[in-house]
Amino acid sequence: MPAFDELKVFTGKAHPKLAQDICSYLGIGLGVCEVFKFKNDNTFVRVRENIRGRDVFLVQPIAAPVNDNIMELLIMIDAAKRASAERITAVIPYYAYGRSDKKDQPRVPITARLVANLIEVAGADRVLTVDFHAGQIQGFFNIPVDELTAIPMLSRPFASRNGDNLVVAATDTGGTRRARDTANILNTPIAIAEKQRVANADSIMESIIIGEVSDRDALVVDDEISTGGTMVSTMNVLREFGANDIYCAVTHGVLCGDAPAIMAESGAKEFFVTDTLPIPECKRTDAMRVMSVAPLLGEAIHRIHNGLSVGALFDEV
Ligand code: R5P
Repeated sequence: MPAFDELKVFTGKAHPKLAQDICSYLGIGLGVCEVFKFKNDNTFVRVRENIRGRDVFLVQPIAAPVNDNIMELLIMIDAAKRASAERITAVIPYYAYGRSDKKDQPRVPITARLVANLIEVAGADRVLTVDFHAGQIQGFFNIPVDELTAIPMLSRPFASRNGDNLVVAATDTGGTRRARDTANILNTPIAIAEKQRVANADSIMESIIIGEVSDRDALVVDDEISTGGTMVSTMNVLREFGANDIYCAVTHGVLCGDAPAIMAESGAKEFFVTDTLPIPECKRTDAMRVMSVAPLLGEAIHRIHNGLSVGALFDEV
């Protein structure tokens, strides 16, 4: 017996297709909510149905335009709070500003923490997300956070290889845990690219590979692909060290600027990415395989609503 009344799912403008797919998984209709901007650039939200006492889930990845979509999410939370929702869960499949998670230079902000504070102050009771840039971002919230991972679903296409002649590669030492988790599923060794980022520039310098990749196919894993620079330089250094076919698997396809073209030219055999962010046709390449997180998020929402374990979801996967 759920502890809360009826479950309701609403979406902002960031990724309505994902919200719709989550509702299809749950077998419910998407809640009706009006979200638009006035001519003066102010955002307006109106929930068009009764949510008094309901268990409300607001789906809004922080996609571009990032700052508009954050504001929209905050206003949706406020609208739901003032409409007397019993519990509000911010479903944020992609958490932007995740890279700004520490004060690693003098006089810089910790924006990931600031955004967490804003979400809480707006009135969210819980957060549901997929693959934070760093797990410790959970600690920026004083409300429960369920962080799902797309690693098992991104590993699935390689399961039939049974680890045969494959190595899982991290794009930097920070991605070691992700590579290790993937390698454990696929029963492969890991390799790590040692990356040096130049100051605050988007462009990076890659240097060496730690681990044995020669004459093996490589699966490069990362949390996100933004400009594509990290992925392509990792692929290049893997080739220098003798890797054969290279596959890529990332959770969040930010794919800004020329990233789709850069990936198209990268020579990646296949490039797996999820739909935590919208990936319009113009960003898709021949090698790209988009996998949906809607069943994962839908199942997590079902479990949260019914007071069931979310962790057990991964035991079953
Ligand atoms: C960095 O630490 C992340 O894990 C990704 O490697 C990075 O965000 C990718 O960015 P880009 O595609 O711009 O190199």
